[in-house]
Amino acid sequence: MKRYANITPEGSRDFLFEESDDRKSVESTLSALYKEKNYRKVITPAIEYFDVFSNGNTGVEADDMYKLTDNYGRTTVLRPDNTMPIARLVATRLRDAAFPVRLYYNQNVFVKNKAHAGRTDEIPQSGIELIGDGSLDADIEVISMAVEALSRTLRGSYKLEIGHAGFFSAILDKMDLTATQKADICNFTESKNYAALGDLLNRLKPCPEIAALKRLPRLFGSVEVLDEARKLYKSAESNRALDYLKTLFEKLEKMGVSDKIIIDLGLVNRSNYYTGVIFRGYADGSGVTVLSGGRYDNLISEFGLDCPAVGFAVDVNALCEVKNEVINAERPLRIALTKGRLEKSSVKLFQKMGLDTKELENKGRRLIIPVDGYEAVLSKAPDVITYVEHGVCDIGVVGKDTIAEHSSAFYEVMDLNIGKCRFVLACPQGVDFYAGYKRKTVASKYPKVASEFFKSKGMDVDVIKIEGSVELAPLLGLADGIVDIVETGSTLKENGLVAVEEIMPISARVIVNIASMKLRKEEIESFLADMELASKV
Ligand code: PRP
Repeated sequence: MKRYANITPEGSRDFLFEESDDRKSVESTLSALYKEKNYRKVITPAIEYFDVFSNGNTGVEADDMYKLTDNYGRTTVLRPDNTMPIARLVATRLRDAAFPVRLYYNQNVFVKNKAHAGRTDEIPQSGIELIGDGSLDADIEVISMAVEALSRTLRGSYKLEIGHAGFFSAILDKMDLTATQKADICNFTESKNYAALGDLLNRLKPCPEIAALKRLPRLFGSVEVLDEARKLYKSAESNRALDYLKTLFEKLEKMGVSDKIIIDLGLVNRSNYYTGVIFRGYADGSGVTVLSGGRYDNLISEFGLDCPAVGFAVDVNALCEVKNEVINAERPLRIALTKGRLEKSSVKLFQKMGLDTKELENKGRRLIIPVDGYEAVLSKAPDVITYVEHGVCDIGVVGKDTIAEHSSAFYEVMDLNIGKCRFVLACPQGVDFYAGYKRKTVASKYPKVASEFFKSKGMDVDVIKIEGSVELAPLLGLADGIVDIVETGSTLKENGLVAVEEIMPISARVIVNIASMKLRKEEIESFLADMELASKV
């Protein structure tokens, strides 16, 4: 029976009429801009060898690529990125060309997104690469084209944020760190996870770099952050990166586009891709990054041609999907709160912030509740993450347990130190969970956390997803143990279970949508400052 003949696979979709027209119109507008500036079109195959992307430079995990094999059994992938194939093309087909070469493309990339996240796996990108020119003028050309690309395709307002890979590496290179510590610092800086970054840095031997790294995720906003950064940390390399950004900004100012530019020194080079300037575009009405780019001087050499390059890619779907109800400076800031366990303490926190919570306490069946000029939304924990990730809510209060299980793209800016509990592995009293050779079965409401815990121990276990009262599973003989949250420990005790090992401490966190943070910076920072003060009372 043809079970799937009438539907498209999850992550893909049809585009009909207006939707296809919108896409075509964005692509045509962008192509016209590229052609005006003498960029020439290239098309690379949708299917490439896995080796083109296997060095981890794209930031896409190998597991998230669509893999196939060719006629000889060699692994191929549907391209997850456009820059690597173009680097391959330049290093092979254009190595004798008169550089610089200016190329543009309109073609899709394919990345497996998590199920039911409202994202397509096939992403139409439109972008340019300026290859063979390592100068400031080349960066200016590409950045001003990025501004122009957004201005020609968007009706509402937008911002382009600029950072520099060199500033962060100048600090990091002076420190004696393991590869894991480096990766964690990168990750926490990029996700503006001040709490986790602070914890990690406090465990290291004190040095001047630590103070600078702690401040780095907060170094974003207008051009003044460059002076702040200069005071915070001084070295020849870091000054070079800051001088570069300053000159770049001044040139963009002369071109009349500086009001569209914000600086973020917390933009770091997680994927080893970028070597100099990095930039991202955010649009009013979109919760995601609509444009991203930067300088990548070492990438083409991986294909055998030493050649500097700079470029950007626009997410065409994201531009077409700009909606009024997503981040929009006209509507009140919207805060998603977690129902249940964290609800009372969140309301109390609002009260400590001096907010009038009467309507929130007497909400009845209302789902969007006005709170003193803000809007509060009460939802289940995983939904708080979804609403914030998509930008329909700007800020969220949610437990670290849910973040660990449903990790996603947002800034995790504060540990509220409320709703404290811990993840544990527990099993029936008197039983040695680790004894014997039989494969263990573990029940959990948090299958990802449970699987990762056992993976880190090199232990192969069966994890069964249970929706609630997970303590029942070992009592009924379904599982040998459970991975769950424990607060007072009374549920475990009353059911004859004991904690075998603690997995991680949990508390409520504040998360912020990435685009909101950039487009509504002042309002969000002032709200967060009030919240931080209140959380310490
Ligand atoms: C959590 C958790 C445990 C219990 C632990 O469940 O899954 O069952 O609380 O708390 P304690 O250590 O204070 O006894 P929750 O109350 O969130 O309900 P659920 O099982 O319906 O999800």
